[in-house]
Amino acid sequence: MQLAKSKELYQKAIEIIPGASQTDSKRVSAFAPGAFPMFTVSGKGSHIFDADGREHIDYIMALGPINLGYCYPAVDQAIARQLKGGIIFNLPHPLEVEAAEALIELIPGADMVRFFKTGAEAVSAAVRVARAYTGRDKILSWGYHGWHDMWCAQLPQPLSKGVPQDQHDLIIPFSYNDFTSPQSLKSKLEENKEAVAAIVMTPNNYWEKAAEGYLEYVREMADAYGAILVFDEIVTGFRMANGGAQEYFNVIPDLACYAKGIANGMPISVLTGKREIIQGMEDLSISTTYGGEVLSLAALTAVCEEYMTKPVVAHMWSYGARLMEGLNKQAENYNIKCSFIGYPPLTVFKFTYEEARLNADLMTYFLQDNAENGILYRRGGPIYISYSHNERDLKQTLAASAKVFFNIAQALEKGDLSARITATGTPMESIIARYKA
Ligand SMILES: Cc1ncc(COP(=O)(O)O)c(C=O)c1O
Repeated sequence: MQLAKSKELYQKAIEIIPGASQTDSKRVSAFAPGAFPMFTVSGKGSHIFDADGREHIDYIMALGPINLGYCYPAVDQAIARQLKGGIIFNLPHPLEVEAAEALIELIPGADMVRFFKTGAEAVSAAVRVARAYTGRDKILSWGYHGWHDMWCAQLPQPLSKGVPQDQHDLIIPFSYNDFTSPQSLKSKLEENKEAVAAIVMTPNNYWEKAAEGYLEYVREMADAYGAILVFDEIVTGFRMANGGAQEYFNVIPDLACYAKGIANGMPISVLTGKREIIQGMEDLSISTTYGGEVLSLAALTAVCEEYMTKPVVAHMWSYGARLMEGLNKQAENYNIKCSFIGYPPLTVFKFTYEEARLNADLMTYFLQDNAENGILYRRGGPIYISYSHNERDLKQTLAASAKVFFNIAQALEKGDLSARITATGTPMESIIARYKA
């Protein structure tokens, strides 16, 4: 693959930007290092153009925010219109009200709304509100919620280095779909009776669908133990259903956080939920200069309009289902142990041979060879589908993966997989893999 420009940029970046990226999951080591594009210059619809001028069908989609497609006209026009009138002001802007109204219409459990910039920031605000409301400190947590101290406390060294010890004691992980084990929600609630302010969870586990009745059970447990239930819908919102997993599963949390897909890439996040709880923010010190930044609010309002009038989520489900089915069939036809699983708008995948090293190498080769054929995936997914992915993309994607699986079958038969891998170095484990059940 032609990567001359990518490599030149990377050499400069690694000298002046720690990790050469602002986002762990965009680091060179997060893909097939040295055999995968390293910088993206522009995007249009479901495609991106890398720094070396190659076009690819993208299933990374900025790690989730680009739900409609790159340079989506209705959103870009809304941003351009607002830009003429200014970016941020001395007083609140009417778009704050308009955007809040649109979200309240789309999200079942939304009575009131506050805006932030990043997903982690919105979840931190939810924790503060829940602690203030309950007068308790401990948080039970499932899933990834961003880089703030409390969430990194759960991670192994060196990832959690620098997090104060008190955070380790206040944040207690529990396991998903687990009704009975010592790691289950119920066991953790029992162990920390009358001390748990909130259960903060992604309502999904990428690797395993929600067991029948599990989220209803979580809702019941939260009520029984007097804890606030917070859904982190930063990925599931505007993807599993317009209103997110709470709408899809019909389980309404007390508070919920949204970001990523809500503004098609503009930096804005949301804390929403029950009036009785969220109104308490009026008395708390939770404030940020950029919460009312108007270009993002204009984008969010335009995105909501698209979701209200177009079958965005239905498209993600149907495209995702056909892609998942096609990929699974191909793997099966070539007798390769690779499974594409989960909910179709959020498919993840893994190689399932006994040897972990072989699975990691196969993942590297899968990414490398797909990129060679113009298709970009993350290691293990999720495979992010946008409203702009179309029939031609699907056909091209499956044509590419047929070649890739054929090559993998050949490599396994001949025992020359390592020789085919041109990627170098140790790839980074994906962030969501750290939270696997
Ligand atoms: C489920 C979930 N919660 C929270 C976050 C943190 O969002 P941000 O990176 O915008 O702070 C992410 C980011 O990937 C996420 O996937």
